[in-house]
Amino acid sequence: MHIIDIIKKKRDGGKLTKDEIEFFVKGVTDGSIPDYQASSLLMAIYLNGMDIEETTFLTIAMAESGDMLDLSAINGTVIDKHSTGGVGDKTTLIIGPILAALGVHTAKMSGRGLGHTGGTVDKLESIPGFRSDLSEEEFINTVNTVGFSDISQTKSLAPADKILYALRDVTGTVENYSLIASSIMSKKLAAGADGIVLDVKTGNGAFMKDEDSSEKLAKVMVDIGNNAGRKTVALITDMNEPLGRYVGNTLEVMEAIEVLKGRGEERLTEVSKALAVEMLKVAGVSDSEKASADVERVIKDGAALQKFRDFVSAQGGNPDITEDLSLLGEAKYKVDVYLTDSTDKEGCVMSDDNINGVYISACDTEKIGLAVTALGGGREKLDDVIDPVVGIEIRKRIGETISKDEPIAVIYANNKEKAEEAAGLVKSAYTISLEKPVTREPIIKRIS
Ligand code: URA
Repeated sequence: MHIIDIIKKKRDGGKLTKDEIEFFVKGVTDGSIPDYQASSLLMAIYLNGMDIEETTFLTIAMAESGDMLDLSAINGTVIDKHSTGGVGDKTTLIIGPILAALGVHTAKMSGRGLGHTGGTVDKLESIPGFRSDLSEEEFINTVNTVGFSDISQTKSLAPADKILYALRDVTGTVENYSLIASSIMSKKLAAGADGIVLDVKTGNGAFMKDEDSSEKLAKVMVDIGNNAGRKTVALITDMNEPLGRYVGNTLEVMEAIEVLKGRGEERLTEVSKALAVEMLKVAGVSDSEKASADVERVIKDGAALQKFRDFVSAQGGNPDITEDLSLLGEAKYKVDVYLTDSTDKEGCVMSDDNINGVYISACDTEKIGLAVTALGGGREKLDDVIDPVVGIEIRKRIGETISKDEPIAVIYANNKEKAEEAAGLVKSAYTISLEKPVTREPIIKRIS
């Protein structure tokens, strides 16, 4: 077999066979196919697409290019959950303990934040002592004893994806449904769970900006998962504003604890509960109403919070953060952000006199994520060191009214200049209107 023939076939709109796709992935992984030929095939795929059969072959070949985690030593069904990324998304920290309290195992490998989106590993590592680098044995042990473990993705997980993703990044071939879906799902398949629940974010803070493209991506990923023998469902959820009231690593841990105590922000609680119910269903619970009631119960009776403490403790962290939030550390400065002196859509400058009762009508969510990065709480490059305690508290959400005495947000910073920069970004992220805007539901669609 020759790579040049495979490139020509896809260039001319042909359908690649399983053998051809496996030959390509193997050659990319062992270096026998040079970058220029791999890039050429990626562009041919980008332009001519792949059907679901080709996409599934590509995903499985990439998953098998490195270690496939063997979770058979875990007793019972193991479920994984993946979010396509957003701002303020801390649902994993909430869902894992809920499922563990209900006897369902979650074994999860998470990533770090990059650009405007946060990463679960950064949030967890903001807990004093927490280790996300457990060995495979420790990982499996934690899932068996606690019911939930979350570690950072190992280097040997789907190495073909790492090579191809780096090439796509510099050859203009990222935005293709088959390539995105196979990249995400190869890592999920290699991570070994029996079932997968996907949270596909849609909106201006998400990878996919509109509902149609989010739905298309969700469908491809669900089909790949099911074709590969893993029960897979997806929820499409809103990312046109941050999820919850806090963005930033320790702040998000704190907010997750609040949800587990039964007093979390409404939309975050709703999305977390809905994902937990989906995971229970994937694990075999057939009665949705019972699943919802069970989720409510373990939050109310404190069982989920106890599981969170057990999980933190098992991974080396201090579980007492649930009772004493100051153990997470605090930023030096808190700066209130007001919307006066901002300009609305019609070009009208809002002042102290005329701002009262005006609505927040839209949020540029990506800017909120970038504001946290500007504070030092996120990464511009993969090897950037982050400041865990900085972040933003969102005081006003879309559909709420503002007044001259109420800040729309509070910046938590360790540096005054960075706080100013972040405040500017936050101010510019909001659009205001005199009319009450239509607010979006946090859960948009279920794809199974
Ligand atoms: N995330 C991934 O892991 N891969 C993609 O291609 C896009 C987003």
